[in-house]
This record gives sequence, structure tokens and C-alpha cells, in this order.
Amino acid sequence: MNLTAVEANRDVVPETGAVLSVVVPTFNERGNVAELVRRLDLALAGIAWEAIFVDDNSPDGTADAVKAIGRQDQRIRCIRRVGRRGLAGACIEGMLSSSAPHVAVMDADLQHDERVLPAMLAKLQSGQFDLVAATRYVEGGSASSFSESRGRISRAATQITQRLLGTKLSDPMSGFFMLRRDVFEEMAPRLSPVGFKILVDIATASDGLRIAEQPYSFGERHEGESKFNVQIGLEFLGLLLAKLSKGLVDPRFIFFAIVGAMGIAVNLAVLNLALIAWPLRFALAKSVATFFAMTSNFILNNSLTYRDRRLKGLAMVRGFAGFCLIGTVGALTDIGLASQLYADHEVWWVAGLAGAVMGVLWNYAMSSMFIWRTR
Ligand code: GDD
Ligand code: MN
Repeated sequence: MNLTAVEANRDVVPETGAVLSVVVPTFNERGNVAELVRRLDLALAGIAWEAIFVDDNSPDGTADAVKAIGRQDQRIRCIRRVGRRGLAGACIEGMLSSSAPHVAVMDADLQHDERVLPAMLAKLQSGQFDLVAATRYVEGGSASSFSESRGRISRAATQITQRLLGTKLSDPMSGFFMLRRDVFEEMAPRLSPVGFKILVDIATASDGLRIAEQPYSFGERHEGESKFNVQIGLEFLGLLLAKLSKGLVDPRFIFFAIVGAMGIAVNLAVLNLALIAWPLRFALAKSVATFFAMTSNFILNNSLTYRDRRLKGLAMVRGFAGFCLIGTVGALTDIGLASQLYADHEVWWVAGLAGAVMGVLWNYAMSSMFIWRTR
């Protein structure tokens, strides 16, 4: 179908509100906001659009920059989130705040070509599709602005995702897409706010979604720098695991596993030290080791695994007390098991390891239910 966006508007929307909400997640994008709005205005001429910036309290004052524009232009809104971070969660909240029939998500840094938005909208308005994903990896699209190494990561992640999830998307890692709001509203409770890769999550959240693709060239970042890092890569693995296990494994599991392994390492290192360098009785040495591991696990979980609901100030003190309480029960099992095994076999590290693994499993189960729970 080759409806122009304007004709399509007339057919579908008699209302006076926006036809399209463009959701723009931002973190430290102050220098890009005005230019993006200018380009949207050009690209979406004749379409009733609005932009919803979702800013995670950027220290560079991105939210202020957006609100300054909003005072002149009522199409521009800003949701300023405090105490939270995360691209996917920001996109979800932005889309949930829309009342337009169509919602798009795009980056603020002008790497996503806003000139393809009308074509994407026309595809939705044809009534044949629920989701239009902008893609770099079909005829007419390109990602040549990626550095060599980042390009390799992106292509590898694309292949893994396609194979594991069986999605037909040619660019499942894309952060540029548009969908019908009613479809989004229905699936929203099933989406994960963790991580960077919201499109994969959306495309696999409902069966039988009718998906179209829109080629575009991925451009250079305008100002500022990318927020992509190792942690985001790990979060992505977590999302894949969650999807693969049909939601049985939490996307945070990957961080549980890493912090758990580090806790065990701390536990063993301190145990070794306490036994050899500073000779203590085994049970006492193990108690010291367990306390160290508990403290480092709390700190790591609070800043990594649960960084989106990080405890601070008094809540952190209370959380640590609760964590230690849970940990003490875990530690008693741990110490009991380890001491028993040590008494039986006298191999310090087997005893220490077995006890520690038990303790860690207990701690995670309980603390995710009681310390960092939401809702
Ligand atoms: N609110 C909010 N919170 N926004 C964020 C956060 C966050 O924690 N992290 C990043 N953003 C915003 C950035 O400000 C930017 O507008 C957009 O999300 C994308 O972030 P970039 O840092 O520019 O990501 P990128 O260019 O490395 O990655 C892009 O390409 C990937 C393709 O491999 C993004 O489009 C990804 O979504 C895409 O998957
Ligand atoms: Mn970018």
C-alpha cells in the first residue's frame, strides 16, 4: 500500500490528539535534544505528532533542555525519572504515557534516521501490520557508522538472538521501531524493564504479531557518547536466558550467577587466609569468611544485580541487616554442612565450597523475595 501519511491520517483518525507519539529515552543527551526536535518537525510535517522524552535524571540537565522546548512547543513532553536507570524501562514508561494510536521509539543521538518515520507510520496505518522495525541489515539499510569491533558485537548478537529465539527480525538489536499502541498496552505487563534490547522483547511478547521492516542507514552519533558497556552486554544475555526459559529464569539471573561466583571466591580466599596466615579454628574461620562474603555480596547485588532498585541511606542499612539475617540462616546451614564435611574428610576447600554454594543459593532466593522486591 502506498498511502501517504497525510491521506492515511484522514482515514483513520478523526480525533484531535496526536496520531503518533515518538518516545525518546535519554541519558546525558542535552546537546542532541533541540536538533532532534528540529528534524522531527521537518520529517513529520503534516502528521499530528508529539515527542515524549524519558530522561533518567541526566546530570547534564537533559530534562531541563527538553522542558525549555516544551514551554514553547506543547508537542514536546518530558518524563523525568528519578532513582532509576535503564533504556528498556524508560521506553516502556514513555509508551505507556501515550494516548496516540501509534507509538515509536528512537534514540536521541540522531543515529536513527527520522526521515523513515512517515513510511513506518503508513505501514501501520495500512492495517496490515502491528509492528514496524527499522532495520540496518536488509537491502537499503546499513550500519557502516559502527566501529569495527562494535559492528562485530552487534552482528554476533544478532545471529545468536535469531538462532535462539527464532525471530524473523533481520535486526533484532535495533532500538528504532513503531507499533500500534493497543498491541503494546496488551503486552506491556509481560515486558522486562531490564536491559537495552526492548525490540526483541516486544517482538516475542505476543504470538502472531504482524511485523514489517523498514530499512534505514544507521548514522553517526551527533553529540555526547554511547552508553553501551559490558554490563549492558550481560543484561542482554540475561534477557535471552529469560526468554529461552519462558520466563522461569529471571533476566537478573546472570548477575546472580556472577555475584554468587565472586562471593564464593571471597569466601574461599578469606577462609584460606584465616586458616593459614592467622590460624583460627575451622568453624570460626568459616564464620569470618562467610561474613566477608555476605558483605561483598550485599554491596555487589545492591550496585549491580538490583541497581535499578538500589537501596540507599537508611533503606540500605535496613536492607543490609535483613540480608545478614537471611545470610545468618544460610550461614548456619553453610557452616554446619562445611564443618560436618571437614570433620569427615578434612579437605578444607571441598568442605568450604559445598557449604558456600548452599549458602549462596539460599541467600539469593530469600533476598530477591524480601530485600530487593518490588510491588
Ligand atoms: N532514559 C534512559 N536511561 N535512556 C538511556 C539509558 C538509560 O539508562 N541508556 C541509554 N539511554 C538512551 C541514550 O541517551 C540514547 O538516546 C539511547 O538510549 C541509545 O543509547 P546509546 O548510548 O546511543 O546506544 P548505542 O548507540 O550504543 O546503541 C544503539 O544501537 C544499538 C544497536 O546495536 C541503540 O539504538 C540500541 O538500542 C541499539 O540496540
Ligand atoms: Mn547511539
